[in-house]
Amino acid sequence: MATLKNMFFSVGQTLTIVGVAKPDATNFEVNIGPNEQDITLHINPRFNAHGDENAVVCNSYEGGTWCEEVRSESFPFHQGEEFKITIGFTPAEFVVTLSDGSTINFPNRIGAEQYSVIRFDGEVCIRSIEVN
Ligand code: GAL
Repeated sequence: MATLKNMFFSVGQTLTIVGVAKPDATNFEVNIGPNEQDITLHINPRFNAHGDENAVVCNSYEGGTWCEEVRSESFPFHQGEEFKITIGFTPAEFVVTLSDGSTINFPNRIGAEQYSVIRFDGEVCIRSIEVN
């Protein structure tokens, strides 16, 4: 697990994450939030985890509870291979773009215009993180 606590990721900016899923990965997570407890955007590519095969599950976590999930239509992740995820947002929603160009729209339920914490978890090596 790795946590970045001073990201200053704001409305209008684009966050680009490049990483590699481990060869034996079951799943990994990218979590963006306003603090270390709450998650406004959880992106969870699942190769084989939590009862899912080849699914990207997005959700938010507030006050100790998971909210309503949004699932992607495609699954452009491969164990042992590099992926790129780009994320932009407005006060209303996040737009997550995956390596194949497909997008996931996820509501900005916390509604903030700036988020400062990013946490990575699971079987992944992060190669670069950029905010532009
Ligand atoms: C749960 C899982 C959490 C999170 C959540 C998303 O089943 O344990 O890690 O992925 O789903 O809704």
